Amino acid sequence: MKTLIVYGTKYGTAEKCVKELAKNLTGQVDVINLKDNKDIKTVDYDKIVIGGAIYAGHIIKEVKEFYETNKEALKSKKVAVFICCMDRSNPERYITNSFDADFINGVIAKCCCGGSYQFSKMNFLEKFIIKQIENAGAKKGQGKEVDGKTDIIDIQYDNIKTFAKQINQA
Ligand SMILES: Cc1cc2nc3c(=O)[nH]c(=O)nc-3n(C[C@H](O)[C@H](O)[C@H](O)COP(=O)(O)O)c2cc1C
Repeated sequence: MKTLIVYGTKYGTAEKCVKELAKNLTGQVDVINLKDNKDIKTVDYDKIVIGGAIYAGHIIKEVKEFYETNKEALKSKKVAVFICCMDRSNPERYITNSFDADFINGVIAKCCCGGSYQFSKMNFLEKFIIKQIENAGAKKGQGKEVDGKTDIIDIQYDNIKTFAKQINQA
């Protein structure tokens, strides 16, 4: 049984999640960062895991492009999907936003892996946007205030373990 994980990341959180996932999968697992390689042959694999970071409500561009290009080929595969994001109230909506409904209905597993804010790596505008959004939420009692300096790591390792189990059993 061969599994391929393809992912997109800007600041490395999705990569961390992918490493954790790969450790928990059985059989041969190949991992590809879509920034490094876009010419991927899906025919060699039984199961394909696709995922990555959410920016402004949508999956990162590289993953969207991979999905659009390989949609037809993916129909004959066992596919699983994951996202990395910071919203804990309704992260599933990002999966719905990013992929077609019939595709999502056919997947073997879905996962919201959590995420992180790495302020040290963000540009000024990104820090500003995140501070505005998070601190407005905190004022309404949703989440905590952020100072735009201290990194926040919130990877959901239990979700990743459950995701791996579902993929192994499929
Ligand atoms: C500019 C910007 C926009 C973001 N937009 C969202 C969003 O719409 N929803 C969300 O839940 N998280 C959002 N995030 C949080 C990212 O999804 C989170 O930081 C994720 O862990 C990034 O993954 P990466 O390190 O693999 O790039 C945003 C982060 C930044 C910097």
